[in-house]
Formats: sequence, structure tokens, C-alpha cells
Amino acid sequence: MNHATPKVTVVGSLNIDLVCHATRRPDKGETLIGDAFDIFTGGKGFNQATAAARLGAEVTLVGSVGADPFAEILLTAVENEHINSRFVTKRTDIGTGVATIVIEPDGDNSIIVVPRANMALTTADIHAAVDCIADADVLLLQLETPIAASEHAAAIAKQHGTTVVLNPAPAQPLPDSLLGFVDILTPNQSETELLSGMKVSSHEEAHRAAEVLRARMVATENAAVVLTLGAQGALILTETTSQQVPALPVGPIDTTGAGDAFCGALATALASGETLRPAVAFANAAGAAAVTVIGATPSMPTRAKIERLLESEK
Ligand code: RIB
Repeated sequence: MNHATPKVTVVGSLNIDLVCHATRRPDKGETLIGDAFDIFTGGKGFNQATAAARLGAEVTLVGSVGADPFAEILLTAVENEHINSRFVTKRTDIGTGVATIVIEPDGDNSIIVVPRANMALTTADIHAAVDCIADADVLLLQLETPIAASEHAAAIAKQHGTTVVLNPAPAQPLPDSLLGFVDILTPNQSETELLSGMKVSSHEEAHRAAEVLRARMVATENAAVVLTLGAQGALILTETTSQQVPALPVGPIDTTGAGDAFCGALATALASGETLRPAVAFANAAGAAAVTVIGATPSMPTRAKIERLLESEK
């Protein structure tokens, strides 16, 4: 399709992130005094939608929130990012999704997500957004909303020639009926291990596991696996090629949302007509930029920030 302005539709979660900074994660049964506390907007869906919008895409977010003050914060944030919020449905019987996050001094995080309203997203909600999915260049999905909703969205996308990108996070087993609609799968190391049932501790193992995953996407021509490997960059596996795209070396402050910046940037680059390797290089830079800022949504980079980072690496 490739419109003058790239169009990305995201079906995904919206959460409020409750973030504690501490010297370490508490042990079982232990109460620990932390160093700082923040409340941020988040949710993999909203973060990825924000990344795409900040990078110049026209973005529609399809999701579900509760009827509580958290929902108002999120809906205002969606508007502020110039994301189409028409298909973010408000539920009256359930609360908005939340995530409790612990950040350690090295920037690493642990997250518990309680999806609440995110899991109330229905295939009827997806159907209401059919035109926005059919008209998009890229449909971007994650796994914090029901699989049935994602599968319905992916089926619509495939009927209309919209590229389907699935970020299989948080990790969970996936039906072949969904994978069969996916053009590009973007698991990280642990998601790859869960989905393939194989260990991923070397380049060779990563390659073999990506091959296993790609074989499950056979219904899609040109299916590709883009395996994100943190500081080792990303491994691209297509029918004809296997390429490693290096990461940019940055000192992480907070890694929360780095994968979301990667996926939002990848979707935007592909929606702009970019081919896979340069799109992944751009996405790597977006992920690197994100780890230098505290908070998930706040860390989604602008194009100017990515360009400055790429310039400083020359
Ligand atoms: O990927 C980071 C996100 O995961 C956080 O914003 C949190 O809400 C969880 O969904």
C-alpha cells in the first residue's frame, strides 16, 4: 500500500506503570526499601503506537481501558501523541491495565502486568476498526490482549494486503492459526526459547530456533523472524538470508520499553516502504535510544534523537 504518510494500526494494551527503583529485586518474603517511585503511561500496545507516532506514522490504536482515573490519564496521553483513539473502548465493569515494575541500578527490569481491561478486548471491537486495519500499511500486534482479537485483526490484515508484525511479548504459547497470518515475528531471546522449545545461548542456537519459528509461519510468503538479542543486536532470518544487524553500544539507565521502541520503529520503517535490513538497523537505533531514558512511554524516541545517536556512532 505505502501511503505518503506511513499508516500503522496497533492492536494492543494500555497500562499504567507503577515503577520502583531499588538496589535489587526483593527476595521471597522480603520487604525492601526502594530509592524512588514513578508513575508512567505504558502497555506494549500504547508504547509501540507512541514510537510509531513520534517517528512520523499516522497511527490508530485499538485497545480497551476501564472507567477509572488511570483510563483518563491514558486517553489524554493517546490524544497528546496524536494517535487515533476512536477504537480505544472504555469498559465500565473492569479496571484499566496496570504494571508494577522494579528497576535495578544497571537498568534491568522485572515486570508484573495485570491486564484487566486489556483482556476484555473482543473480536467485535476489532471488527469495528476493520477499515483502519485494511487501510494500514502495517498491523502491529503484541500479546497483552486476547489472542482471538489479534487473530481476527491479522486475518483482516491478510485479506487486504496489510503487513502483519507480531511482537510475541509477554511470552506465551501461540497457535499456528495466528502465526500463519504473521509476516514478521519479533521475539527476544526468552520468547524464542519458549516458542521454539529450544535453548538460545549462541548464534548457532539462535539461528536454529529462528528456523523452527519461521517454519510455523509457512502460510505467509516472505515470512521473516527478527530475533532481538539485546547488546548482540538482531538476527534476521528469511527464506533466503540470515543476517546479524549489530546493536548500538549505549549505557542503559532503564531498559523498560526498549523492545517497544524497536517494534514501533520497525513497523514505521516497513510502512514507509523500507526493506527489512535497513528497517531493523533503524529499529535497533530506536531501541538503543529508549534505554537512555527512564519510563516506558517517555523513552520512545523521536526521529531527531535516533539520527543524533546514529551520527554519534560514526
Ligand atoms: O514493554 C514495557 C511494557 O510492558 C510496560 O510499559 C508495561 O506496561 C508492560 O506492558
